[in-house]
Amino acid sequence: MLNASRTPSQTAPAAAIDNATDPAAAASDWPAVASELIQARQTVLPKRLVAPGPDATQQHRILAAAAAAPDHGQLLPWRFVAVPETQRERLAEVFAQALRERDASATPEQMAQAREKAHRAPWLLLLVVDGLRGDPEVDLGERLLSAGCAVQNALLMATALGFGSALTSGKALKSASLRALFGLHSGEHAVCFVSVGTVRSRKPARVRPAVADYLSTLGEA
Ligand SMILES: Cc1cc2nc3c(=O)[nH]c(=O)nc-3n(C[C@H](O)[C@H](O)[C@H](O)COP(=O)(O)O)c2cc1C
Repeated sequence: MLNASRTPSQTAPAAAIDNATDPAAAASDWPAVASELIQARQTVLPKRLVAPGPDATQQHRILAAAAAAPDHGQLLPWRFVAVPETQRERLAEVFAQALRERDASATPEQMAQAREKAHRAPWLLLLVVDGLRGDPEVDLGERLLSAGCAVQNALLMATALGFGSALTSGKALKSASLRALFGLHSGEHAVCFVSVGTVRSRKPARVRPAVADYLSTLGEA
């Protein structure tokens, strides 16, 4: 069972995935490993994520998992932008400015809270999707879906390495100041932040929907 008390090197799924150079030999374990890993991932919000975050090798491994996402036309329509500690204050200022633009009567406490969000989680990334790059036949929905697959791969690898993770959105993602900070061009969309770190505390996992809640069969009522 995966849990926060395991050290990264003890996480069985990561080892299993690494050792899967011979798919025939590994395949018998894959359903159980995949199921355990998939079910172990849960949102751990940034305020519950503390240092240490993933080291450089672990970060590379998490990001390399994203590259295995399906990508129609191989457009690579998504990218991640890391926000190191040295840049968090700039992001904090953007969060405060975005709040001020939305709500001119925001209190100093609300402004401070907005700023503080930029300093949570030891490893912070912005997921960006390009709606224009390459073949225009591949629409934004397909590009977002590829990005969703990529980020899920990354979250699963983070989980396998023993880290907690979360996706977060918010109105600031659409703000002009955030777009300027990250240098987004007009076709690009800031989709969500990805936070990764050591789990300080976690809520019980949510009850997931049953297959019957999202499966129907064509031709059946
Ligand atoms: C694109 C995206 C953005 C999200 N943004 C937020 C957010 O801003 N705040 C939040 O609490 N959860 C956010 N979530 C996390 C969802 O609330 C969470 O995945 C959902 O409650 C299911 O819980 P689980 O991830 O533990 O299975 C986001 C999820 C996605 C896919």
